[in-house]
Amino acid sequence: MKKWWQNEIVYQIYPRSFKDSNSDGYGDINGIISKLDYIKKLGVTMIWLTPVYKSPMADNGYDISDYYYINEEFGTMEDFDKLIDECNIRDIKIMMDMVLNHTSDEHPWFKEALKDPTSKYHDYYIFKASKEVPNNWRGQFGGSAWEKVDGRDEYYLHTYHIKQPDLNWENPKLREEIYKMIQWWIDKGIKAFRLDAINHIKKNPSYASIEPDGYDGLAAIKKMGRNQEGLGEFLTELNERVFKPNNCMTVAETAGLTNEMYKDFIGKDGYFSLVFDFRHTALELESGSEWYSRKEWELKDLNDTLMETQTNIQKYGWSGIYFENHDQPRSTSKYLGNYDENEDAIKMLGAYFFFMHGVPFIYQGQELGMKNFVRKSIEDFDDIDSINQYHRAINEGYSEEEALFIVNSRSRDNARVPFAWDDSSYVGFSDVNPWLMPLDDNSKHNAKSEEKENSILNFYRSMIDFRKNSDISEILIYGKLEPVETKTKDVFAYRRKLDSKSVLCIFNFNDKDVNVEINKGEILFSNYHMEQAQEGTLKPFQMNILDENN
Ligand code: NOJ
Repeated sequence: MKKWWQNEIVYQIYPRSFKDSNSDGYGDINGIISKLDYIKKLGVTMIWLTPVYKSPMADNGYDISDYYYINEEFGTMEDFDKLIDECNIRDIKIMMDMVLNHTSDEHPWFKEALKDPTSKYHDYYIFKASKEVPNNWRGQFGGSAWEKVDGRDEYYLHTYHIKQPDLNWENPKLREEIYKMIQWWIDKGIKAFRLDAINHIKKNPSYASIEPDGYDGLAAIKKMGRNQEGLGEFLTELNERVFKPNNCMTVAETAGLTNEMYKDFIGKDGYFSLVFDFRHTALELESGSEWYSRKEWELKDLNDTLMETQTNIQKYGWSGIYFENHDQPRSTSKYLGNYDENEDAIKMLGAYFFFMHGVPFIYQGQELGMKNFVRKSIEDFDDIDSINQYHRAINEGYSEEEALFIVNSRSRDNARVPFAWDDSSYVGFSDVNPWLMPLDDNSKHNAKSEEKENSILNFYRSMIDFRKNSDISEILIYGKLEPVETKTKDVFAYRRKLDSKSVLCIFNFNDKDVNVEINKGEILFSNYHMEQAQEGTLKPFQMNILDENN
């Protein structure tokens, strides 16, 4: 049975870096409102806002101190209500980011828990009475996952930053507060949610130390605090209480899911509408949590990984398909190497992910072909994860130069620099110096200069339109994906198939002409101007969607 969210196309906005309307160097809600026509013209149907709630911004909003309040940096609740109205006028839906694994340490619940260990809020968090650090778990942002409470023999758990204490989902009262809060947003008209780090909410009840996996003697917390037995009970309740009765769309951030878990997560009665799978995002790493653990990889690995994940996921349900987000480097730099400025290559790469099975997510600036940005000193980084990864690399014996190279290639700041609206001094984002360095060497990819024929931006617009409004839209949206062997290095293909109809999507990642037997027939969509595939020849970085129905 079809679901309302299956033909959505989502555009992710990082509000801090999208558009500054009040000249303070930070993006805001009124800035977003001023750009809704741009978003509408792109053709997407929904925007996902990373957190805009009240927050001291230790982790750029993923540390919430009031779920019912808009952070002043972004504006007011009136501004937010206006955003809802303006989106409604344009038929654009809003997806909110729900951070439910932790709050800020400045949330009133946590402040009360610290002040009075007998208060009910103490049990909203994970405290352990102990003179010593309770175990050797390493937080996702480095160092012990435990922080001592001042003046008491007690520690609290933080999977992420010290300023992000974990909520205690074992406590039913806490869970009720969460459901009440989500319902409040639903009543405001929000029907789509992205669930941050949601597979971390259940911890291994043993709280035992485990085999160290670094020179620091610690072990990654994800081994004991992610995808743990019993997680499903919490997720079922969350779904039954708020999302299911309101027919919401949900996408869960679920790194580390195994194939066996898809059924429970996104199957017929799954906890969520979609999951974000992570397997393709860290092909250059031995371990996703240590950026210094680099290894060789090839484009074939990317394709093999994606084809395997796609075929496994579609057996049960749907995923959110993406190449970029606010935690990932730019896909141009990551997958195209020396060709990260080649417009045919950038378009081909965009289409390669976009026509797979699932709901596509496009990250702001991806549609312009923005790329990574090299910083020369660790002082220039804002991202707490980058700073931690830099120091971890140094501790593990890497030189400063190596450590800088490592963080430059993966830094979350790559995607977080201001969106380039034009080539003026602050890339049209603001008229004062922005909170994070603007992209000098990147400003040629900007929304204004790309208002021309054949630009990457216009390619994205036509690609989105094609998925929504062409004769083969049904196949591109609902069709199953079948990997197709091309027998040619770095040429990848998949078929989208619905009932007896199918189309072949083929992508040349080479910088030269290649001959591929299966590239024949009528071209329905391409990044080149051609109506007929030319006797098997694919031009450099050409992609085609070919008709297979005659
Ligand atoms: C995942 C978010 O995408 C990331 O930006 C954040 O730092 C962590 N979860 C913690 O909330």
